[in-house]
Amino acid sequence: MKISVIGSGYVGLVTGACLAELGNRVICVDNDKGKVKSLKNGSMPIYEPGLKELIGRNVRNKKLNFSSDIEDAVGFAEIIFITVGTPALENGEADLTGIEKVARNIAKNINGYKLIVEKSTVPVETGNWVRHTISTYIKDKAKFDVASNPEFLREGQAINDFMNPDRIVIGVESKKAKDLLVKLYKPFKSPIVITNIKSAELIKHASNAFLATKISFINAVACVCDKVGADVEEVAKGMGLDKRIGLSFLKAGIGYGGSCFPKDLDAFVHISEKIGYDFNLLKSVKKINEAQLSFVLKKIKDLLWIIKDKRIGVLGLAFKSNTDDIRNSPAIELIKILQKEGAKIRVYDPQAIKKARNVLRDVAFCADVYSVCRGADCLLIATEWDEFKKLDFIRVKKLLNRPIIIDGRNLFNPKDLVKSGFCYASIGRKSA
Ligand SMILES: NC(=O)c1ccc[n+]([C@@H]2O[C@H](COP(=O)([O-])OP(=O)(O)OC[C@H]3O[C@@H](n4cnc5c(N)ncnc54)[C@H](O)[C@@H]3O)[C@@H](O)[C@H]2O)c1
Repeated sequence: MKISVIGSGYVGLVTGACLAELGNRVICVDNDKGKVKSLKNGSMPIYEPGLKELIGRNVRNKKLNFSSDIEDAVGFAEIIFITVGTPALENGEADLTGIEKVARNIAKNINGYKLIVEKSTVPVETGNWVRHTISTYIKDKAKFDVASNPEFLREGQAINDFMNPDRIVIGVESKKAKDLLVKLYKPFKSPIVITNIKSAELIKHASNAFLATKISFINAVACVCDKVGADVEEVAKGMGLDKRIGLSFLKAGIGYGGSCFPKDLDAFVHISEKIGYDFNLLKSVKKINEAQLSFVLKKIKDLLWIIKDKRIGVLGLAFKSNTDDIRNSPAIELIKILQKEGAKIRVYDPQAIKKARNVLRDVAFCADVYSVCRGADCLLIATEWDEFKKLDFIRVKKLLNRPIIIDGRNLFNPKDLVKSGFCYASIGRKSA
């Protein structure tokens, strides 16, 4: 099938490359000309495991191309995916100016039947607005359908998630739209959930809000564990083995971040309010997440007392492992809080340093974990990279000024660390 994907970021590039891999012909479009130029030259604007190879192979096989020309892309494709960003406005509302702009551009360039599919995460009712916008600006009487096909991939394992999703959600309002998307997804073995557009839009917001709720729930439980000397890892296991609850997303830590959960939660609260429902539960989820940073700060203060002029080594900048994405990263937030308190920060991340240089000032970016430790008054684990799980503690202890580790991701066994002579604090677990 002939497909255009408008917006070549984490979702657009993975969608385009995977659909090309399945035998479709795909054009990935972006209005950032520099990005398109570098993609054409074979360099990746983002780090996502396996993506460079997948893109390279499909470009060589002439299944995948890049363009900054939306006119060509609309003319070429039968199915057009919209994968532009939908960031949060100051008041929490989703900023849909990118979606509206793309809808207008599609309308102006339509040259025959098109199926326009929202893949970006958008609030319920956006499909109606996309349809209305295209109808308003359409240049001739070309027929079109709008559909919703939310994306559930996770950065760091995006290709596998796209190729083997737990489910494919298709929100449609015509048989033709349904048939086209079912045909496109025929190679997949996953169950397909077919709904109307509004339900599909809500499935995405509700799913992300639910996952964020699980994280905040276990973080709240961790705070209680901390106070009574229980172990949140044991509690999470005991809860999660109940099939109705499940083990995933019950990992206590420094809180959720990234480009999706915080903004999608805000957007869901906002759209609910707009249509007359006060989503108090989600407001609390957000509050608990924000409080988690103060919880970690208190742990650092409990061990260092005064933060001013202390050298703090931080491992991790990305909002989670296996990505270079630092959008709403709790690691970055913590660094900023510590800097405000007067700390001097040394930091290392396997992939995210390049992006972090644009948002952090007066930080020593180090080449590896051990340079971070050199002369630091404590070591803070902020992202759960596998590389950090293999620390040589004898070396770390020699390099640190004081043998203090604050483990914001519960990577290590408290007993082992205390036995090795560290002052060790983690989230919702006794020190030893
Ligand atoms: N990143 C994820 O893990 C993930 C997962 C599921 C869903 N989503 C959703 O998918 C959407 C995209 O997310 P992302 O992380 O890929 O964003 P991103 O910021 O990485 O990519 C968006 C791209 O769209 C381009 N763009 C913006 N306006 C454009 C326009 N008018 N014409 C052409 N290109 C334009 C930008 O230059 C950018 O390259 C968001 O709604 C997000 O919530 C993201």
